[in-house]
Amino acid sequence: MRLASLGGFAGAVLDAGCGTGENALHVASLGLKVLGVDVAETALALAREKANDRGIQAEFAPADALQFDRLGRKFQTVLDCGLFHTFDHLDERRRYAASLASVTERGGTLYVLCFSDDGPDTGPHPISQEELRAAFNSGSGWHIASIEPDRLETRFHDNGAPAWLAIIKRI
Ligand SMILES: C[S@@+](CC[C@H](N)C(=O)[O-])C[C@H]1O[C@@H](n2cnc3c(N)ncnc32)[C@H](O)[C@@H]1O
Repeated sequence: MRLASLGGFAGAVLDAGCGTGENALHVASLGLKVLGVDVAETALALAREKANDRGIQAEFAPADALQFDRLGRKFQTVLDCGLFHTFDHLDERRRYAASLASVTERGGTLYVLCFSDDGPDTGPHPISQEELRAAFNSGSGWHIASIEPDRLETRFHDNGAPAWLAIIKRI
């Protein structure tokens, strides 16, 4: 919501690992064209139900984040809220970075909000800044513009878990 209020979303928007769609629905409510994708059909069904109940136009579809090229579409802004840290190894994270690059327009922006290793009380898959930089390294088609400490809301932290907000540009 903070990024959106600062005008951080433009053009066609992809919400990667959208879950039940809260972020996608917020961005869509601002008038942007949004596709939310997830592997979980149950989450997508809930997201569609919320869109319908709230009268918000947003599209939700099943897709594997490691194979976004299969979408055959391009996006100017991509949001990853809580997906990156689910990939365990560098090779999988690099595959994910390549998959994201395949659907992001040059000059486009990727936001990654993931659990950070900068405790205390870290989330279940803490990520270091170095791990983010290794996945979106030079040659990946991405340039990391910034990585800042932030919070990621969970069901088991009162004030969210320590997180990194990475702003990454497609080059
Ligand atoms: C922690 S949840 C975050 C949900 C949502 N972005 C949010 O902020 O509430 C991570 C989501 O990523 C989805 N996910 C995990 N692996 C995926 C993959 N390979 N492709 C697409 N979605 C995936 C899960 O099904 C889950 O809905």
